Amino acid sequence: MRSLSNQRVMVTGGAGFIGSHLVDALAVRGPARLVVVDDFFLGNRENLREAQAHYPELEVVEQDAADFDGLRRLFDGKGIDVVFDLATIPLPASLERPLWSSDVIVKLALNVCELCRLGAFRTLVHCSSSEAYGTAQYVPMDEAHPFKAETPYAAAKAAATLLVESYRRTFGIDMTIGRPFNNYGPRQNGRDFSGIIPRVIQRIMRRETPVVFGDGKQTRDYLYAADTARGLVRLYETEEACGQTVNLASGMELSVIEIIEEVSRLMGWKEPPRFERPRPADVRRHCAATEKGKKLLGFVPDVGWKEGIERTVRWYQQHPERLL
Ligand SMILES: NC(=O)c1ccc[n+]([C@@H]2O[C@H](COP(=O)([O-])OP(=O)(O)OC[C@H]3O[C@@H](n4cnc5c(N)ncnc54)[C@H](O)[C@@H]3O)[C@@H](O)[C@H]2O)c1
Repeated sequence: MRSLSNQRVMVTGGAGFIGSHLVDALAVRGPARLVVVDDFFLGNRENLREAQAHYPELEVVEQDAADFDGLRRLFDGKGIDVVFDLATIPLPASLERPLWSSDVIVKLALNVCELCRLGAFRTLVHCSSSEAYGTAQYVPMDEAHPFKAETPYAAAKAAATLLVESYRRTFGIDMTIGRPFNNYGPRQNGRDFSGIIPRVIQRIMRRETPVVFGDGKQTRDYLYAADTARGLVRLYETEEACGQTVNLASGMELSVIEIIEEVSRLMGWKEPPRFERPRPADVRRHCAATEKGKKLLGFVPDVGWKEGIERTVRWYQQHPERLL
């Protein structure tokens, strides 16, 4: 098993939702250095308060990781051993600005691959997305499920993954890929481009009826973000995972309606949701195969979906400013 203790670790997108949970998980593992690189497109310094309490030496660098020269300079001096690559432009932005967002997503991955190839650091843990698979062609969806991206975001995430894999095959870089399915939990961006759970919580807090796009029967496989963070750490720690891609998911399928009903119940909201036209290119069905994660990493989620949603609702109720 590889240890993160005494390693010099960088997290791109570390001030974001999953990135900040990962930084929490890394901060308690005794790294020699822990560096967050984020341009604060959606990141938030508040997300790093807990990690800073455990690890006051946390370095937070405001830098565009899609700028190759700017990123490269951060590897000079004290050096970096491991990069967790989580920076991204979110899916909804790719519907409004497909050219720009796809370009950035691909560059983010390409830059860390290239820096790894040049020896700026030793190990890359890249964060892919289940969106790259598109709608399930079979369930459960294993890591060999074909890529059939629906949105430019999904296509760019697929391209990023292919690039990381190609850098391993061509140049032998030490890399591993985690492929999370839908994440939820505290600190998910609740403002622009927000996900379904913060959006429903926000509407109910404003006494507005939650909105369902389409029939609400579309499904997702939800994982609590702190579990995803643990999975990413296990990917690094497990030497046999080197060169491999592993789904990070619960293996459980939940519909959008079930999620809305659970949030409504927890918040005492009695009215049914309002139905609107489906969103373009919305994935219809997602349900992950989780065997590889279990066998290779010993990864099983700690937090069940009802408990996770309750924790999430309570967190937003305590942090309503994160929904404004
Ligand atoms: N949230 C999910 O449900 C989900 C599911 C599957 C995969 N993922 C993947 O997990 C990773 C993290 O996603 P998230 O949900 O935490 O997103 P997020 O938007 O909360 O975090 C991404 C972070 O990247 C930063 N960023 C964007 N452009 C940057 C740039 N050019 N340079 C430096 N930083 C930049 C943002 O400011 C933000 O802090 C991404 O790779 C995403 O594709 C997320």
